[in-house]
Amino acid sequence: MTSDERRPLRVRARGVAKTYGAIRALADVDFDLYPGEVMALLGENGAGKSTFVKTLAGLVDPDEGEIEIDGRPTVLYPSARSQEAGIVVVHQEFGSIRALSVAENLYLGQIRTGTVWRRKDLRAHALPLLARVGLDHLDPDTLVEKLSVAECQLLEIARALSRDAKVVIFDEPTAALSDHEIERVLEIIRQLAAEGRSIIYVTHRLPEVFRLADRVTVFRNGHSSAPVPIGELDVAGVVTMMLGRELSSVYPERDTMTDEPVLQVTDLLVPGLKAPVGFTVRRGEILGLTGQIGSGSNAVCRGLAGMVPVLTGSVTVDGVALDVRSRRAGIARGVAFCSDDRKVDGMFEERTVSENLSSPWISRVARLTVVSRRRERQRTSAIASSFAIDKRRLGTQVGMLSGGNQQKVVLGKWLGTEPRVLLVEEPTRGVDVGARAEVYQRLRALCADGLAIVVASSDSAEVLGLCDTVASFYHGRLQSIRPASEWTEHDLTVEVMHTEVSA
Ligand SMILES: Nc1ncnc2c1ncn2[C@@H]1O[C@H](COP(=O)(O)OP(=O)(O)OP(=O)(O)O)[C@@H](O)[C@H]1O
Ligand SMILES: [Mg+2]
Repeated sequence: MTSDERRPLRVRARGVAKTYGAIRALADVDFDLYPGEVMALLGENGAGKSTFVKTLAGLVDPDEGEIEIDGRPTVLYPSARSQEAGIVVVHQEFGSIRALSVAENLYLGQIRTGTVWRRKDLRAHALPLLARVGLDHLDPDTLVEKLSVAECQLLEIARALSRDAKVVIFDEPTAALSDHEIERVLEIIRQLAAEGRSIIYVTHRLPEVFRLADRVTVFRNGHSSAPVPIGELDVAGVVTMMLGRELSSVYPERDTMTDEPVLQVTDLLVPGLKAPVGFTVRRGEILGLTGQIGSGSNAVCRGLAGMVPVLTGSVTVDGVALDVRSRRAGIARGVAFCSDDRKVDGMFEERTVSENLSSPWISRVARLTVVSRRRERQRTSAIASSFAIDKRRLGTQVGMLSGGNQQKVVLGKWLGTEPRVLLVEEPTRGVDVGARAEVYQRLRALCADGLAIVVASSDSAEVLGLCDTVASFYHGRLQSIRPASEWTEHDLTVEVMHTEVSA
């Protein structure tokens, strides 16, 4: 008898194991969860968090192990059984069906066979759920494919809320969200826990963990730690548990900026902006564009990449005019772009890591359409090592990688093109703290090689820590652009959220 047995556990897992070929995704995982508690699941990319969560969701059939729900041994595979046991998951990958409307997707979470729903009923069902997650501005008849990544993620949460659940699992729910929306998600989670539901919260964002979690379980190489009460931990302690080593500093020195202009943007107007913007990015400089979702920061990045129509304005690279209406022209002039929606335009899921890494430049190592496999291998392997991508996984389909490792592949892919200008949206979404430090180092090293970099990011700590210059956006307007050293986190929050300034 342990002291824990006085309180009934909601979830008790013992010895859960799952192997994919040679990869041990889960090895002998034990896990405890009480009613009404928020448990954070932490760990490096590929540590096994999503696989464990999918085991509870009935999406993965474990090779070994037992799971009890409310004291009763329960088989959770396939997912219908997990749902019956009262487990609901908000996935890291979006589960909504893009070709259906918002209201239809919310209805899918509610399937009751034999009931016929009319469109009016669908809307009436959708509206309160949308309001709860702050999507009341959306028409429920909007197709999901029209939504931004952040809106999809909030819709996913609304879908989970539409079911009555004992256990609600969030797998990186805020990775795509900005501060304002994160607050709302944290509030929803607190409310769910206060109602007596058990919450499992998977994230790479440690500040959220300290604000939300009661206890923490750390995954490492498929193994789980014993749960630790949050009060017994600090950030350094959590990072050491995750990485098995200390991490001294996350952000590299800012010592690469020159006076030489590379990217010059004049009076640029793109859809999503209410007024034209202009700025210069110098060789060796990282410019951060930041703001809430829809503020215009990402629109500028996409306009420069030739991904959205540019209405007016001119852009030069190294003094030569760039045709921003064409992505192809951008690529030819050395303008690389890493999108924040890797599922749509960053990555080929069915292709291998190696094929993804080489896809932007494969034509250059191909002579008379015969690809030099040796040169391709040399180059992909060099990129893989600079992004800490496991070389044993070069032949694996990218869709099989963990979320954070997919992000590293997308970044590595464009850097193999040896660009002059790099445009990146949300460079470390879903990337663990250790690998995040590597990504920042790598971006700074590229600056040292003479690149000019534009980062669009809604993570204000990242923008202030990484960039030389920071431009803030609000409601389609550039608010101000200043050296990062002149900003404090407080100033920046005020500017991008307009919490103290009236519009
Ligand atoms: N269907 C699959 N086929 C093959 N390998 C898989 C599959 N699913 C997961 N894996 C592997 O299992 C390991 C654990 O992956 P998992 O997605 O659980 O990691 P994670 O902790 O969620 O990482 P991240 O923080 O990047 O999301 C990884 O090595 C991954 O590549
Ligand atoms: Mg994951």
